[in-house]
Amino acid sequence: MSTPTNNKRGFWGSRMGFVLAASGSAIGLGNVWKFPYITGQNGGGAFVLIYLVCIFAVGLPIMLAEFTLGRKTNLNPVGAFKALQPNTAWVGIGYMGVVAGFLILSFYGVVGGWTLAYIVKSFSQSVLEFQSPKDAGQFFGQFIANPTEVVIYQALFMGLCMAIVIRGVHGGIERACQVLMPTLFVILLILMVRSLTLPGAMEGVKFYLSPDFSKITPSVILIALGQAFFSLSLGMGAMLTYGSYLSEKENLTSATVYVVLFDTMIALLVGMVIFPAVFAMGLEPAEGPSLVFSVLPAVFSSMPFGTVVSIIFFVLLAIAAITSGISLLEVVVAYFIDQVGWTRKKAVLTVGLIIFALGIPSGLSFGVMSDVKFMDKTFFDIVDNIASNYLLPLGGMLTAIFVGWKWGIAKAREEIEKHETRFHWANLWGFLIRYVTPVAVAFVFLAKFF
Ligand code: PHE
Repeated sequence: MSTPTNNKRGFWGSRMGFVLAASGSAIGLGNVWKFPYITGQNGGGAFVLIYLVCIFAVGLPIMLAEFTLGRKTNLNPVGAFKALQPNTAWVGIGYMGVVAGFLILSFYGVVGGWTLAYIVKSFSQSVLEFQSPKDAGQFFGQFIANPTEVVIYQALFMGLCMAIVIRGVHGGIERACQVLMPTLFVILLILMVRSLTLPGAMEGVKFYLSPDFSKITPSVILIALGQAFFSLSLGMGAMLTYGSYLSEKENLTSATVYVVLFDTMIALLVGMVIFPAVFAMGLEPAEGPSLVFSVLPAVFSSMPFGTVVSIIFFVLLAIAAITSGISLLEVVVAYFIDQVGWTRKKAVLTVGLIIFALGIPSGLSFGVMSDVKFMDKTFFDIVDNIASNYLLPLGGMLTAIFVGWKWGIAKAREEIEKHETRFHWANLWGFLIRYVTPVAVAFVFLAKFF
């Protein structure tokens, strides 16, 4: 399909380009770094099952709502709500999204920088000489406490995201994802085979796939729901913005299903890489946020071809982080292009540099600023907490309420069914978006307060 000539914002070149770019946003540190460690902390198989229910009952309907709002208005989150409900408080959802993009990318850039650092460190072999996971953990702790190194790698990560976004949706984001996403999938398959053939790997498969329902508590359900949200890039207009570059010929429902399936498949695949390896090594699955950065290098150290495996893994993690980082940056950039009238170049350079600067204190939170705390939280924790635990759930819930009750299911359905696309499960979607989704997300949100 040729690129539709529309306005200076640009359009996706093909349906697959869009699906891959949106999957690139969804698949990121959330899948590769966060999903395995919280699955490990929350009992394995049972958590995975609840997570899957959350993805399909809550995440999928909200994603379709965001794509629909985006394509209907062809605008950034602020412009979209303004176009549909001018001069109302609903526009606040859009502003919240732009702010969330700013905040999330500021610390996401720091963790993205860690992944780049570990590619380099794998080459120099310094992460491949560990006798135990404890040594690897210490090495990681020392690395993230080094201000110069952390900030340089954060700058490198931000620079890569900016270089891609500056080329625009078709030239930059889409082309990058078209190559990167399939590569990611293949690399994961190779790693999975490597992991599954380690002696003792089956214990890990059992932990990961056989649910122990005694482990399910209300707090486990809440964690699963929150993770579904973060992993699918919902609640801040990232998917709305990507949908705004869709032409009317595309089928929104099938694009939604593809993106949700790809994101879920990658998360599940990453689990099949990590847990067999963790159990084969006699390691602890509930290790926590350091799982990827401190346990896996120890795993690689004891493997044949460890250097190669380590480089492949961290390249993979960096790819996943960059394709998510560019979607976060694109939300803020699209706002300045559409609403403020900046050129893409000016928007990317200005916004990118400010987000980088805002991220520096987050990067220093594990070293020189580790004692600078407010209510017992470091700068990194505060920014992460405000954005991920407050802005995303609130944004998602309000988007669902807006589409379900204010803009209306009928208008949304009209947009979805443009060009005679049939929306077979329209009634189910209407029910989910009006009742199930707002109530479920409100539940997560309130749980943060009580
Ligand atoms: N979904 C991304 C991940 O899993 C993170 C993200 C959240 C990206 C919100 C954009 C918007 O890493």
